[in-house]
Amino acid sequence: MTDETLMETAERACENAYAPYSHFKVGAALLTASGNIFTGCNVENASYGGCICAERTASVKAVSEGEREFAAIAIANSGGGLTYPCGICRQFLYEFGGNDLRIILRDDEGNIVVHTLGELLPHGFKL
Ligand code: THU
Repeated sequence: MTDETLMETAERACENAYAPYSHFKVGAALLTASGNIFTGCNVENASYGGCICAERTASVKAVSEGEREFAAIAIANSGGGLTYPCGICRQFLYEFGGNDLRIILRDDEGNIVVHTLGELLPHGFKL
């Protein structure tokens, strides 16, 4: 699984986003340590607090299927350009990926950009 292929999977997942309120569609493709891929999109709700991000949709799909070790996640939005995961998603991903989780993005020029979660969430919280 290349970063490019994982990103293309996230871009396809973005098409399923339900975002009638923000009109900001996001897709994610999560690669687990065992090599499985789980996709997700943001799903909004008229009660705004009920909205869930694409990254957490993919994460809960993985965990609910018994996968607790995340290796990489690609994140795309319908407008193009970098979509960095929000603070809640960074902490959520930290639980299952730790500092080494690879965050794969695509910039405005179409280049793949990779960060580790440790770069985006220094000193993440763990009990
Ligand atoms: N959103 C995501 O799905 N992932 C992010 O990392 C940032 C934000 C969604 C939540 C909401 O549905 C919309 O984008 C606007 O914030």
